[in-house]
This record gives sequence, C-alpha cells and structure tokens, in this order.
Amino acid sequence: MISNKNNTDLMEKIVSLAKRRGFIFPSSEIYGGFGSGYDYGPLGVELKNNIKKEWWREMIQIHDNIVGLDSSILMNPKVWEASGHLTAGFADFLVECKKCHKRFKGDEIKDKCPECGGSLTSPKKFNLMMKTFAGPVEEESSLVYLRAETTQGIYVNFKNVLNSMRLKIPFGIAQIGKAFRNEINPKNFIYRTREFEQMEMEWFCHPKEAPRYFEFWKEERMKWYQNLGIKKENLRIKEIPKEDLPHYAKQGADLEYKFPFGWGELEAIHNRGDWDLSNHSKHSGQDLGYLDPDTGKKYYPYIVETSAGVDRSVLAFLSEAYSEVKGGRTQTTKSTKEIEILLSLHKRLAPIKVAVLPLVRNKKELTQKAKEIYQDLKRHLRCQYDEVGSIGRRYRRQDEIGTLFAVTVDFETLEKNDVTVRDRDTMKQVRVPIVELLDFIKQKLED
Ligand code: GAP
Repeated sequence: MISNKNNTDLMEKIVSLAKRRGFIFPSSEIYGGFGSGYDYGPLGVELKNNIKKEWWREMIQIHDNIVGLDSSILMNPKVWEASGHLTAGFADFLVECKKCHKRFKGDEIKDKCPECGGSLTSPKKFNLMMKTFAGPVEEESSLVYLRAETTQGIYVNFKNVLNSMRLKIPFGIAQIGKAFRNEINPKNFIYRTREFEQMEMEWFCHPKEAPRYFEFWKEERMKWYQNLGIKKENLRIKEIPKEDLPHYAKQGADLEYKFPFGWGELEAIHNRGDWDLSNHSKHSGQDLGYLDPDTGKKYYPYIVETSAGVDRSVLAFLSEAYSEVKGGRTQTTKSTKEIEILLSLHKRLAPIKVAVLPLVRNKKELTQKAKEIYQDLKRHLRCQYDEVGSIGRRYRRQDEIGTLFAVTVDFETLEKNDVTVRDRDTMKQVRVPIVELLDFIKQKLED
C-alpha cells in the first residue's frame, strides 16, 4: 500500500480522480475554465451532501439548543458596514510584480516574484467583498455585496429566532450556505476559491462563559472530523495570536488538516465577543440585547462560532481516504507495476453504498435477478448497477469511488436465492440470503 502522506504528487492524483470519476470538474471548462470555482459532479455532490448532512445531524440533532437557519445571500449593504467587512478589517495585502504584473497575496511571498523573479510593489490593502447590483440600474444606490460569511445572516435574525423559538441563552443557530470572497490568489484546487460553501454555527452565551465554550467547541469539532475517519495525527489546533485575529474576534483558533500540500485551515473557531450584536444594534437602531429572565439583567450575548469550509472538508476527506495499491488488490491488473486506487471514505460519507453486479452480462437470468435486487435496494440506499467488464474490474471501479459493498449475483444465486456481499475494506465475501440483504447492509451501515 502506498501511503497517501509521503506521495508528493498526491494532489494531482486527487484532482485527476475527481475529474475522471465525476466528483469535481473545473468550472466552465469548455471555455477554458474559470479559476474562481469548481463544479461538483454526480459523485461529488453526493459526497458533499453527505458531509453537510453529517454536520447538520451533529449540530441540530446531537447537540441541545441549536436550531437551523437558511438566510439569503444578498442582504442590505448596511449589514456589511456594521460587521466591519467594508472597512480595512476584511482585506488582504496585495503585491504586484513590477516586471510581469502578476498579483499575489502579500503574506504568502517574500521579496521576489515567484513567477519571474521580478521585484514587487509594496503591499496594498485589498478588500475581499464581492460586489453586484440589485435591480436593473447599475448605480451606487443599487450596489450590494455577496455575503463573505454566512454568519451575518444569523446575527440579523437573532431576535427573530430567539422570539419565535422561545430560546434561552445559551443556544446556537446553525446554517450552511455559499459565501464569496474576491480572493487575490485562488489556489490548491477547491482549497481556496472565490465562491465556496460554509457550515457555520453561532453559539450565543453569557460573556463570562465564552472562554469556556471556546474550548468546548474546539474539542467538539476535532472529535467530529475524527469520528468521520480523519486520523488524529492529521489534525491540529493552531491558536491565533492576538495581532493576527480577524477584526471581529477576541479569541481565535484554526483547526488545521495536513493536506497533501501541507498544513492548512479547515475550520475557524472564534470567540467574537459582542462585536456583532452590539454593532448591528448601533447601526440598525434595533436593540439586540438579551434580557435574562432569571436575573432581569440585560446584556449583549457573546458569540462563539465554529466556521467550517464544506469544500475544504471535501478535500480533506478525499485526501484522507485516497490510497494506492501496487500490483492490484483485486488481482485484475496484469502488470505488477499497475496501481489500483482505493477510496476508503467513511461509511456515512461514501457517495454510493452498494453496487449490484451480475457475475456476467451475457446470461439473462443473472442480469434479470441483479436488476430486481437493485430495484429493491435503491429505494432504501444509494446504489449503482454495473454489468460492464469483468467482475474484478467492476470491483476495482467501485473501490475507486469508495462504494462500501458489492453485491454479486452468480449462478448459485439462481439455485439458492442468496448473493455474495463483498466488503470494500476487508475484501471479505460472505453469502447472504436475498430476503435478508437489506437488513444485513443496513446493520453494517449502523455498526
Ligand atoms: N465566520 C467566520 C469565518 O468566515 P474564516 O476563517 O474567514 O471565518 C471560515 O472562514 C472557513 O471558511 C475557513 O476555515 C475555510 O474552511 C472556509 N473558507 C474561507 N475562505 C475560503 C475560500 N476562499 N475558499 C474555500 N474555503 C474558504
């Protein structure tokens, strides 16, 4: 087995697999691509949805006192004045090469242009908010911003949610959605793009409790990634020094993953203090303070947030799951130098749970039986039916996309009404009666 961590071109391999097997495509590829974003293909969207489903389950179902929200992307531009995103706070340093005129993020390069070695201009601040116009007239008064973080939609709905759900502090509001930033330098595939998706949970608590919750949520988030198959040694928490904190934060930590290109931020955890609620109160003229029903005292709750990138999570789970076996684990490869790919995604994340395969395609009794089984299973689980190629090659194709179980219909099936179930990870095969098949697989998925 070739380990995924000592393989320098792993990133290229993941990009290639992602395209070849329908996980992720470059955006607008027929027009030469558009570096700002990527498109999720049929398997990618399943993986991405499974990640979001797991996050939602964890936040809304498992933790107490967290409710969901889906707020709009375009908001009143005053939101972004109040949040501080339109001021210098939400900016990157930009440098330009004097020779080739390429532009770079100032904190990522030293003194010379990495492309041509030319000298660089001194760093200038560059605001990352993306602009557009709401309505038919392109003028200053119709200028709006695409949200740079989903969370501002949560703050402006704080009172609506509090009152309609009759909540008491502490409680959380969780939301998943697209965010946009005019990044100077999109890079590393889906790691840094201008259009991306976030999973954010904002925990409203008493100011005195915020440091304790900041610790609590760091631990909870670390556990979530590990429970979904990421090894502990590939995760770490990096505390952010005061001088590097975003403009809204009192405390901050990055939850980092060891990506194929090195350690990188997967999720940010912040104690935002009362920055957001007090600023929105000031700018909107609406009182967003909280009246404690027990003490009768009024205060601005502090906010501890967990802000995870959906796309970065997809990349982390793909990187973690990817491995290669030289010579072939399914013994279908003729050359011992040929490599087979295995994607050991966690069972709850795998896009396809079961593949149904007739042993051969030119025996009608087998294909008919296999199709019947497939029709039945697909009502309960994400399934694929595949009859093309040798059985070994089909196992191999399924291993490459992380399918958990392969159900093979063979000649014995016709006599005994049972099938072979092959486990992706152990490659062990067991015979299971068809009447018990669904329960057998469901049980395995639950374990
Ligand atoms: N509400 C807090 C916030 O937005 P952040 O550290 O700026 O904090 C949170 O972003 C997460 O969003 C990051 O950890 C990352 O996973 C994701 N993210 C941010 N910018 C991104 C980009 N340009 N491309 C892809 N994901 C991004």
